[in-house]
Amino acid sequence: MANFKFDIQSIFTEPIVRVSSNLLPHTFRGDRRRALDISSKMSQIIDHMGELSAVAQKLSKPVTSSQKLRMVENQTVYVMADINGCDGDVVIGLLKVGAKNLYLFDNVGDTRKVDQAPCILDFYIHETRQRTGLGKRIFDFMLAEENWIPVKCTVDRPSEKLLKFLKKYYGLETIIPQTNKFVLYEGFFEKDGTKDNTQCSFYLKIWHCVYLEVTQSA
Ligand code: ACO
Repeated sequence: MANFKFDIQSIFTEPIVRVSSNLLPHTFRGDRRRALDISSKMSQIIDHMGELSAVAQKLSKPVTSSQKLRMVENQTVYVMADINGCDGDVVIGLLKVGAKNLYLFDNVGDTRKVDQAPCILDFYIHETRQRTGLGKRIFDFMLAEENWIPVKCTVDRPSEKLLKFLKKYYGLETIIPQTNKFVLYEGFFEKDGTKDNTQCSFYLKIWHCVYLEVTQSA
């Protein structure tokens, strides 16, 4: 877990806070002076956790930094802390998500432009706390806040641990192959529980071919 020289209790009035480009937790209340103080502290927290995440994933540079977050409007970082826990006040993880316009292959290999596709961009729980259910806790918090469902999320270069995590908790297993770095799962293109048009037209095409074969050979 990550310790900071400053008091983090005033930042984490709740165990998980949502942070966007203003670098303030969603729970923030206060004047401009206090906002500057809290955003500066949050900036240090995000930078440090982003670096730890990069090290854990063996990346050459962090995916998450306060500077990057400040510059984009449609990304959100969820940060989790343990206040008054067995290790004192510590920050234990982060999850960065955003919406992106992507060109993706669907189930039958046709290209689709998906506007504002939900994306999991960076996810990290401190090594000392992994596999204790905290990843699930922050992920579920994020899903509720964003109003997303797991099968509709794309994942940016998932690690083996994240692939196992998504399979275990959300049953995500069958990947729709892409040529870019994003991973998405069977069901991504389905609309509200019904098979999407592409899949229907795929089966219609097969049925049509079978029909022609049968009628021509008769
Ligand atoms: N080996 C295999 N599976 C793992 C491992 C591991 N070392 N760690 C977590 N998992 C998966 C398993 O399914 C595990 O269930 P199990 O213990 O029954 O096998 C499950 O996750 C545990 O669930 P949680 O405890 O809720 O998850 P955790 O708190 O460990 O957080 C996370 C998951 C974020 C992937 C964490 O392991 C981590 O930070 N890993 C290092 C960084 C990383 O790989 N991040 C994802 C990068 S890709 C991206 O961000 C888009």
